[in-house]
Amino acid sequence: ATVLAHTREELADLLAGARRDARPIAFVPTMGALHEGHASLMRTARDVSDGPVVVSIFVNPMQFAPTEDLDRYPRTVDADLEVCAAEGVDVVFAPSVEEMYPGGFSHASVHDGVTVAPGAMATILDGESRPGHFDGVLTVVAKLFGLVRPDVAVFGQKDYQQLTLIRRMVRDLCMGIEIVGAETVREPDGLALSSRNRYLDAGQRRTAVALSRALRAAQARAPYGVPAARWAAMSVLRAEPGLELDYLALTSPDLGDAPEIGEGRILVAARVGTTRLIDNAPITFE
Ligand code: PAJ
Repeated sequence: ATVLAHTREELADLLAGARRDARPIAFVPTMGALHEGHASLMRTARDVSDGPVVVSIFVNPMQFAPTEDLDRYPRTVDADLEVCAAEGVDVVFAPSVEEMYPGGFSHASVHDGVTVAPGAMATILDGESRPGHFDGVLTVVAKLFGLVRPDVAVFGQKDYQQLTLIRRMVRDLCMGIEIVGAETVREPDGLALSSRNRYLDAGQRRTAVALSRALRAAQARAPYGVPAARWAAMSVLRAEPGLELDYLALTSPDLGDAPEIGEGRILVAARVGTTRLIDNAPITFE
């Protein structure tokens, strides 16, 4: 059965047996409002490890700017616990803000305490639009890693820059945790599942699918090179009056410059109404 822990102490008690028996712990950090994308990470965690699977549910205030959607971010604890139970998760850790930040929290830029500095990779793409966001993400993930002490942790490719930065943190800070990047789960029409999709009304929902359509258009034109791929994506995005583009980026798999030939990544962020949406996909230039 799935067991719920609210405090660090409860979590430690629940994991004591696994630690004593040296069973590997697999971990899936989330902010709740769980959907099929999150559920797929739980299944991946189960597949890659034969020890307990731990899911955390914590809306981390440090990664939201004062102008962002912290207050309206969906909180659906009961439904979330059902998802975790249906996926056979062993432990759900759902701490309070006080439990995670006993000294109080604030946005990373003004936080009075030790935080993780994400470096140059956090100044581009989402980091450029959301200053301090990745400081908050890496700080809370480092804290959660310290509490759960997992052997393996699973993150979604949906948040590709986040996944890349977490791999980088684990390497640069010698955390010794295996990071698994799981494929993006999509609606039948291509829209990437996101907790923020529930902000969209019916018209915005139709507009939002342009992000994934743009990625597919670029993939189809990638054999003709980077400019052709970019142009194909841009023409899909420009055709949507209700969509305000933040960035369209073609990069290498580690978010450096796009190669002329070989594997790359295409990433897009846009605002539909007041909702900020992101998506990305692999792309091969020939
Ligand atoms: P959250 O947005 O809840 O996402 C939790 C995990 O689910 C992340 O690893 C994210 O990439 C993954 N995910 C989201 N949508 C997905 C989809 N459609 N397919 C596959 N995976 C998907 O990301 C966060 O929370 C937070 O920043 C967190 C890492 C928990 C730190 O607070």
